[in-house]
Amino acid sequence: MLTPACPAPRCSADRSEAPGELTVRTIERRWRTRKAMPEGRRHMADRSSTAQTLDAMPSRSADVDKQPQHWDRRYSGAGATGVSWYQPEPAMSLTLIDRLRVAKEAPVIDVGGGASLLVDRLVGRGYTDLTVLDVSSTALEIARRRLDDTVHVRWLHENLMTWEPQRRYALWHDRAVFHFLTNAGERARYLTTMRHALSDSGSVIIATFASDGPERCSGLPVARYDAADLERLLDGFTVVESSREEHVTPDGTVQPFTWVAAHRLPVAEVRAAAQGSSTGPRPPAFRKLI
Ligand SMILES: C[S@@+](CC[C@H](N)C(=O)[O-])C[C@H]1O[C@@H](n2cnc3c(N)ncnc32)[C@H](O)[C@@H]1O
Repeated sequence: MLTPACPAPRCSADRSEAPGELTVRTIERRWRTRKAMPEGRRHMADRSSTAQTLDAMPSRSADVDKQPQHWDRRYSGAGATGVSWYQPEPAMSLTLIDRLRVAKEAPVIDVGGGASLLVDRLVGRGYTDLTVLDVSSTALEIARRRLDDTVHVRWLHENLMTWEPQRRYALWHDRAVFHFLTNAGERARYLTTMRHALSDSGSVIIATFASDGPERCSGLPVARYDAADLERLLDGFTVVESSREEHVTPDGTVQPFTWVAAHRLPVAEVRAAAQGSSTGPRPPAFRKLI
């Protein structure tokens, strides 16, 4: 069950949307139609559906414009290790990346990666094509300075609500960003961008506050999700793992998270790829879906 924590959000489990509002299902349907089209027709369809998408969405709100300052202040105020979402080891992310068998040379993007140590750990594991996107230049600078100058990482100072991906990635990783999108238009925009940015056989990892998690994060309202809610949003993907994690903040507060990891491949192809493979012991909280 998806639990709206924001004042009056129409969250993704909504089965009906306000008149004229573009639903996630509409976006997904358009995407499936696009996929079935010959390459030549896709370009035209993209142009018209992008226009429709943007028409149907709320115009850039003051909140969006204020976002960089909000996040810059959080990082410069508390420091990268003092923010509530800080984790000394991105353990769940790394476990799921192993589980998805993401190749070392595969293009990986951490959206809303902020000052997370995930990029450091992936560099350490030999990943060579890493991108971190965030609306906060302060966070990106903290992460960039931590890394050796010889390490090549692409740092994208972008807002996910307006960003237009210029290339395609094999892995889209998001820990604690999607849950800030508290209206249907924002969520639809995010999912469309994610699909545009992801290769046809790409994978996603998304983590949000669980339905019994906090109602706010970083002073902002959030939408909370169970695994089933996130799985529903990933229509056309094969979910490989879903999991619950109890994150402990630097001040000792416990925050339940929901994680999903999925492949953009039909289940049969995922099974075939996984056959005979072993990725080692599984954390007990994991629910095996494939
Ligand atoms: C709760 S923090 C999580 C950071 C990181 N993923 C981690 O696990 O440490 C949310 C991050 O998302 C970024 N963010 C929030 N809204 C964003 C948006 N619309 N576009 C890009 N980044 C955004 C913030 O700057 C912040 O770094």
